[in-house]
Amino acid sequence: MTLPVAVLVSGSGSNLQAIIDRIEDGALPARITAVVSNKPGAYALTRAQNHGLATVALPQAAFPDRAAFDAALLAAVRDSGAEAVVLAGFMRLLGPDFVAAYRDRILNIHPALLPSFPGLHGQGDAADYGVTISGATVHFVDEKMDNGPIIIQAAVPAHPDDDAESLGRRIMTLEHRIYPQAVSWLATGRLTIHGRKTRLAPADTPGADMADVMPCLVNPPLEAGF
Ligand code: GAR
Repeated sequence: MTLPVAVLVSGSGSNLQAIIDRIEDGALPARITAVVSNKPGAYALTRAQNHGLATVALPQAAFPDRAAFDAALLAAVRDSGAEAVVLAGFMRLLGPDFVAAYRDRILNIHPALLPSFPGLHGQGDAADYGVTISGATVHFVDEKMDNGPIIIQAAVPAHPDDDAESLGRRIMTLEHRIYPQAVSWLATGRLTIHGRKTRLAPADTPGADMADVMPCLVNPPLEAGF
């Protein structure tokens, strides 16, 4: 079972790279059918070409309106043969027709613990707010921004001196681990959506689950006696 996925990008493509790496080392049973960018100069396109992947650049300015851009985007993704769509730093809201065409088959990653700090500046907004824990969220995409059912979240400590860059770096190391993991769950058919909740079916391989380990992050750390 190898899921054909299109990856939509706008920027540096480090999450794209993490996905490519896990595909190439055999951990992730997916195949990238096309990497599509709304920014022609995005470094993500170079990364894709370095791995022999098909690329499509769709500069927004070339389209008369949002609907025309969305139609071209959908055509590029469909024509590539993709059965699912991975948004990897794609900084644009998908139109309703696109979401309907790939409903429950579109994933996004966001650099904050949703529903806190949605939008374009999740890392900086969390740092400025003064949270002591932030993180990253992979979720299904619906018509609203950073809104669909959550698949996986990872938490990192945030410190009083953090800014968007320092907190963003800490978050990014976990983005690169949880996004390929979430795509692999989609590819192996282990995710089901129940209202706002996502359920993960157990792995086929005995012992592969970590369900008996309770993940926990408290920051600042608890002191003795608590
Ligand atoms: C990532 O931090 C991703 O979480 C964020 O853009 C960055 C893309 O980096 N996405 C959003 O903020 C979506 N709201 P990358 O191009 O190096 O993967």
